[in-house]
Amino acid sequence: MQVDEAPLEKAFDATIGAGDRIEPRDWMPEKYRQTLIRQVAQHAHSEIIGMQPEGNWITRAPSLRRKAVLLAKVQDEAGHGLYLYSATETLGVSRDELTRRLIEGKQKYSSIFNYPTLTYADVGSIGWLVDGAAICNQVPLCRTSYGPYGRAMIRICKEESFHQRQGYELLMTMMRGTDEQRAMVQESVNRFWWPALMMFGPPDGDSPNTAQSMEWGIKRHTNDELRQRFVDMSVPQAEALGVTFPDPELQWNEERGSYDFGEPDWDEFWQVVKGNGPCNTQRIAHRKAAYDDGAWVREAALAFAAKARADEND
Ligand SMILES: [Fe+2]
Ligand SMILES: [Fe+2]
Repeated sequence: MQVDEAPLEKAFDATIGAGDRIEPRDWMPEKYRQTLIRQVAQHAHSEIIGMQPEGNWITRAPSLRRKAVLLAKVQDEAGHGLYLYSATETLGVSRDELTRRLIEGKQKYSSIFNYPTLTYADVGSIGWLVDGAAICNQVPLCRTSYGPYGRAMIRICKEESFHQRQGYELLMTMMRGTDEQRAMVQESVNRFWWPALMMFGPPDGDSPNTAQSMEWGIKRHTNDELRQRFVDMSVPQAEALGVTFPDPELQWNEERGSYDFGEPDWDEFWQVVKGNGPCNTQRIAHRKAAYDDGAWVREAALAFAAKARADEND
């Protein structure tokens, strides 16, 4: 039977127009559903893949305290991944299927996690700049139009602020240390600055989905608006820390009340997105190995659940 979708679509538009939330039980246009699946899954994958670059340093953290902080941070990211996979499941796709799409390269994760962590200062730079950029992106998502996504973001953002502060505190401690430590921080910031700017996605002119996503209330600001906000927020923090960003064009613009800054290397960005970044192959191979290693756990859990159901029906 053909359902007349016109009144349903009208109700959907009215909900969005009023700034209210769409919930899993509500009718939604198929394109809205697919856009959300793509975005929320990409976000979930980023949390899980993002555990790898920092996880690399857990066994080599310089003190028990640093190890405990880093472990807690990486575990938080696993939690974020799980909330977001749960939010994606409310759109009608299973976590198992999403993991398969990630491993098969059919869904993406943030380009930033394809860069290596070469020194311990990178743990600080990731917390400060990468979690900082994530916060800029994610705070507006707390008001996104899809209920389960927005609610997951509220809790995630609170934890991301802790991540940013621990990164900044780590770098500040190193900056108060030896010349070698200060040099290590600056070198790390030099490597992470441009990739952090790329986290906001391509320039607005090359971001075809932005307009529709904003109309649907999924996105609240454009990529370039968020990138500018991040630059304006980060420059005074860098000054307080005593580091510089590797951008000769970075300069306060009195008229705009914002910083002017140079253009990221978009060719590099697209190369990384297409799978040719420094660590893409390693990240996916690692994720696949972990997924394969966990097969027996999933099988056991399913068998246990089936047995519990059978017992209940006896
Ligand atoms: Fe996170
Ligand atoms: Fe984080």
